[in-house]
Amino acid sequence: MKAFLLTLLAQLCSASLVPEKEKDPEYWRQQAQETLRDALRLQRLNQNVAKNLILFLGDGMGVSTVTAARILKGQLQNRKGEESLLEMDKFPYVALAKTYNTNAQVPDSAGTATAYLCGVKANEGTVGVSAGVTRDRCNTTKGQEVTSILRWAKDEGKAVGIVTTTRVTHATPSAAYAHSANRDWYSDGEMPPDALEGGCKDIARQLVENIPDIEVGTGLGPPRGKRCGPSTTAGRRAGTLGSRDPQEDTGPASPVAVGLGPLRSTKAGPPADVGLGPSVRPQLPPARRTQLGAGPGAGGRIDHGHHEGKAKQALHEAVELDRAIGLAVRLTSPQDTLSVVTADHSHVFTFGGYTPRGNPIFGLAPMQSDVDRKPFTSILYGNGPGYKIVGGERENVSAVDFAHANYQAQSAVPLRQETHGGEDVAVFAHGPMAHLLHGVHEQNYIPHAMAYAACIGPNRAHCNAAGRAAAASPLLLPFLTLLLLLLLLC
Ligand SMILES: *[C@@H]1O[C@H](CO)[C@@H](O)[C@H](O)[C@H]1NC(C)=O
Ligand SMILES: *[C@@H]1O[C@H](CO)[C@@H](O)[C@H](O)[C@H]1NC(C)=O
Ligand SMILES: [Zn+2]
Repeated sequence: MKAFLLTLLAQLCSASLVPEKEKDPEYWRQQAQETLRDALRLQRLNQNVAKNLILFLGDGMGVSTVTAARILKGQLQNRKGEESLLEMDKFPYVALAKTYNTNAQVPDSAGTATAYLCGVKANEGTVGVSAGVTRDRCNTTKGQEVTSILRWAKDEGKAVGIVTTTRVTHATPSAAYAHSANRDWYSDGEMPPDALEGGCKDIARQLVENIPDIEVGTGLGPPRGKRCGPSTTAGRRAGTLGSRDPQEDTGPASPVAVGLGPLRSTKAGPPADVGLGPSVRPQLPPARRTQLGAGPGAGGRIDHGHHEGKAKQALHEAVELDRAIGLAVRLTSPQDTLSVVTADHSHVFTFGGYTPRGNPIFGLAPMQSDVDRKPFTSILYGNGPGYKIVGGERENVSAVDFAHANYQAQSAVPLRQETHGGEDVAVFAHGPMAHLLHGVHEQNYIPHAMAYAACIGPNRAHCNAAGRAAAASPLLLPFLTLLLLLLLLC
């Protein structure tokens, strides 16, 4: 009788674990055949000239974060999660990018931004300058400036824009327009005297002077009064600047249109008044917003959430980014818009523990440790603030609300701030010349491929080739929109 009950129980459990349709081998065969049909269609390469370039940058969105965000997205829709599709999962081409900085195996956001925006690898902590520049050394900067794909587009008279959830002077967006030996030189008030005397300019000033007409969408910043990043005085100037001083860019800003003209015209039917400014990031439903807004790091960024060991905040933010990607993809056409989704670097974030299908992504592994006999969460960090010893032992998480938005997942090594990770990041691509992103690449290759697709930058011999000449005509292409969706910095 007992054996029968156990068998019944096992059957019930496995019944709920495995969706009914997945038990039919035909389901998997059909699904694979559909994938094969889609793959065969890729033999006809999309070699159009890209009218629009969109780069979505999830700060700290490593591959483990992407997978966990996919499961979370499915579970938020009351599904098991593993089978669900992120918007970026639908992109037909995926590459890996090697993220190391010229002087760092595990990189920071400044050196990586220089790579994927300016096409040149650089030292950590520096933006928009070559590896000849040493961090903090103003006097090494001169002549080492490298320009970004925004500049290349601007030089062709294209419209360019940045949409960011952080300060536009933060390292990640700043490499688009600034050249600085230190990512933290936001304003002249934050620069050492020798750098000022040496003629180095602060990042905010360069935003105004270097590329004067970047459209900047800043409505996605952290709540007013809250700042992320090492400097709490970011943006406070000793002198004065024009009206575009970004010091107030951390709160909700008025809508800013980013290259709306060309984007709107690319596809019939999208609502005419849908801006790709702040509204590009769909708002969370009120319930989830409250949940996420509960603590420091409210509205948390991917990078910020991970640094605090708060996986829930990081993953919800990644799902948000994915929703924005879906919106932008629906507003554009892959016939004329190259969309690229990537991350600057990863984090030491992981999930494992032989969890069963559909296990809540923030839940426990199905077994206890066979060493300390305590349960553990599937999500763990290699290092960070979640390290916790209670009474000389690893904390027993069954007594803890590990599904809370502010829960800090356990880590192996105590650090106030969890660190970046050193493994490759994914690069998802969709649209003209997306197939150029196809293997394991150095991160600085990304803007070269994007520029080639759009016939901007130095490499344009192919632009007049038969079949591309008409599309490349400036008359037909009055604008090229470079829209950077930069999420989650610090
Ligand atoms: C550059 O500046 C640093 C201090 O930031 C100084 O130690 C160094 O001697 C200077 N180098 C030159 C060539 O002036
Ligand atoms: C962990 O906590 C749970 C619930 O409080 C308890 O049942 C279990 O015995 C604890 N395990 C250990 C090893 O302390
Ligand atoms: Zn970071």
